[in-house]
Amino acid sequence: MNMHSSDAATAEEAIAAQEALPPLTNEEATQVAMSNTLLTPRFYTTDFDEMDAIDVTPVREEWDKLIARMKSDPNKGHFKKNEDWDTVDWDGMEPKLKAEFIDFLISSCTAEFSGCVLYKEMKRRGSNEDITTLFQLMARDEARHAGFINDALREAGIAVNLGFLTQAKKYTYFRPKFIYYATYLSEKIGYARYITIYRHLEKHPEHRFHPIFKWFCEWCNDEFSHGEAFALLLKTDPKLTESWVNRMWIKFFLTAVFSTMWVRDHQRPEFHKALGVDPEWYGQEVFRKTSEISRQVFPMVLDIDHPRWKPTLRRMEAANVQIAHGRKQGGLGGWLKRMAGSAKAGFAFVSLLTIPVEKSTVPASPRMEPAY
Ligand SMILES: [Fe+2]
Ligand SMILES: [Fe+2]
Repeated sequence: MNMHSSDAATAEEAIAAQEALPPLTNEEATQVAMSNTLLTPRFYTTDFDEMDAIDVTPVREEWDKLIARMKSDPNKGHFKKNEDWDTVDWDGMEPKLKAEFIDFLISSCTAEFSGCVLYKEMKRRGSNEDITTLFQLMARDEARHAGFINDALREAGIAVNLGFLTQAKKYTYFRPKFIYYATYLSEKIGYARYITIYRHLEKHPEHRFHPIFKWFCEWCNDEFSHGEAFALLLKTDPKLTESWVNRMWIKFFLTAVFSTMWVRDHQRPEFHKALGVDPEWYGQEVFRKTSEISRQVFPMVLDIDHPRWKPTLRRMEAANVQIAHGRKQGGLGGWLKRMAGSAKAGFAFVSLLTIPVEKSTVPASPRMEPAY
């Protein structure tokens, strides 16, 4: 029997294992994964030479510990269906919930795989052993995560064609420092999202409508480690988090990542209802955890309890609904609706940026352990 992606030692092996499975030509799923809007996960490329030149000497001690732990591979073999994987009644699932859940799985699979392609490429292009070792380990994890979500989708007769995506999806260029901010945050917010759902379902197992949520605990530990690696990378150069311009960028990325998550989650009301989770509560809870963690390296946190925070996010979400209606409607009327919606969303975003931040003192050593 062929190897399963969960046992793969490298991203390449994991992708090959997924591709060796019986072909499922689901163009629709791959099309969804291919789409590039402000709200869908993108693929990134960067200046790999600049990243390859990073010297991790200033954080050597913590670095070696983190790499040793990632090499010990505590989650090898974990991302595989076993006896805990209850049968899923896809046909009996309420159609709206089914559609939203499939959309959630496809978008999660794309996001996981987006990390994989970026990390794999850095590994391939680099010659700095510290950097290539880290990126190879992270690519391995993300390929397993994407493979596992694809296993879940396959039961519904759907699969994202990972090989095709690598070739055909558009890549967005980000300079390395933006990759650090965006990826650091997406790893940490990923941790906070997975652990918040996991802890909630521990208390309310009656809402666990799919077995994949049982895997979220070990899963989020992988994301936590990836975030730790980016925290260390950010620590190698104090300018990245201390200069005035870069502090503005950090605020921008915090605001963009948080507000995108809010809007995206509100597009899936049935999914959250089935989980027994209020999306506003969930959003704020995830922002709170992510903010607390990000104090390890960012000199500020957003004021998510500010009186304008939630109302402005709601406005942004309403603007987004308007954009979606405009897109559906088409024609001149639809276009006007879309333009008006985009302007409203833009205003809301600028308004979020004007909320003063709470300054924070960064500790000398950034290292943290998952605590939620
Ligand atoms: Fe992941
Ligand atoms: Fe990750």
